[in-house]
Amino acid sequence: MAEKLVLAYSGGLDTSVAVRWLQEKYGYDVIAVTIDVGNEKDFTVIKDKALKVGAIKSLVIDARKEFVNDYIFPALKANALYEEYYPLATALARPLIAKILVDVARAEGAKAIAHGCTGKGNDQVRFDVGINSLAPDLKIVAPAREWGMTREELIQYAAKYGIPLPITSRSPYSIDENLWGKSTECGVLEDPWNEPPEDACSWTKSLKEAPEEPEYLEIHFEQGIPQSINGQKMDGITLIKQLNEIAGNHGIGRIDMIENRLVGIKSRETYEAPAAHVLIAAHKALESLTLAKAQYRFKNMVASEFSNLVYEGLWFTAHREDLCAYIDSTQRFVSGDVRVKLNKGHCTVVGRRSAYSLYSHNLATYAEGDEFDQSAAVGFIKLWGLPAKIQGQIQKEK
Ligand code: ARG
Repeated sequence: MAEKLVLAYSGGLDTSVAVRWLQEKYGYDVIAVTIDVGNEKDFTVIKDKALKVGAIKSLVIDARKEFVNDYIFPALKANALYEEYYPLATALARPLIAKILVDVARAEGAKAIAHGCTGKGNDQVRFDVGINSLAPDLKIVAPAREWGMTREELIQYAAKYGIPLPITSRSPYSIDENLWGKSTECGVLEDPWNEPPEDACSWTKSLKEAPEEPEYLEIHFEQGIPQSINGQKMDGITLIKQLNEIAGNHGIGRIDMIENRLVGIKSRETYEAPAAHVLIAAHKALESLTLAKAQYRFKNMVASEFSNLVYEGLWFTAHREDLCAYIDSTQRFVSGDVRVKLNKGHCTVVGRRSAYSLYSHNLATYAEGDEFDQSAAVGFIKLWGLPAKIQGQIQKEK
């Protein structure tokens, strides 16, 4: 009997060819697994297609809830952005997909896992490292990294084996989408001097099309996790989907950056991440009210470490768990409301309040009711500036 292999199947040309290629080249029985992380595809069509192109079994797994609770929300608590801009949508989904592939491989008694990544990107690293840390005994095959076929050869291969080509006209871009954002690469975007054309965007309106009138939203958080919009409580999936639509309608969340890939190259990346943009801005605003200065400052450093680690495919490590433990601990009092104003590509925080707010009006005010003891400032400054004063006296001339 042939050995079983679990393939991360997207329904596209590459992974469809991979089903046949894995049989031909290695003699595997291929189990196709398609994972729903909020990419809004027709999963029944994909499921059937896998069987049509030769998979012995085809599974579709809805992982949206786990994605939101165990990957997106921890990243939101951290305010995670890679190189200041990228909210890590793809990078966060890869370890979850790796984990599910391993689970299916165990349940099906498969000895190998395959994915459709090429040898140039970050995703191959995230899959391989993720799978290796969860199941070091499983063999990993990356057909697109091995076969060396051009797009034309791929189409010929598909024709030869009766693999249906995608009916929709092929996008000039390489796209990856999930609940936390969409990434768009390739085509004219490969020249960093070219402004991204409108057809590279689909989640967000252009500034011209976005409504003139601003829209206000009130987002409620409990311990760093968003619970409701405008008083309407909803689960994480719904909340993120709604925010993607509402903020996308105002042209919010477009990102255009040059990114340092893990494999040593710089790439021009464009993203659309309306919900991530709004939620991170709102969450940060609530933290500015409820965290002490030292927590706020140190947590930022932790967030930068966390973001790099996620980008670099090291999710299943003790280091990631330790960072998350710290980040979770900081969220004990990050509960309250944030009011944001959405208009013409901008999300502006215009109000914040919390039962645990450290803001004291009586200390901050310049008007009636000021309780701040200004006379205490004199002694404070004397001691605070003492080392600077002494150093100035002794070493300045030298
Ligand atoms: N540059 C982003 C990242 O590394 C997005 C990658 C998108 N992946 C893809 N296969 N199109 O996370």
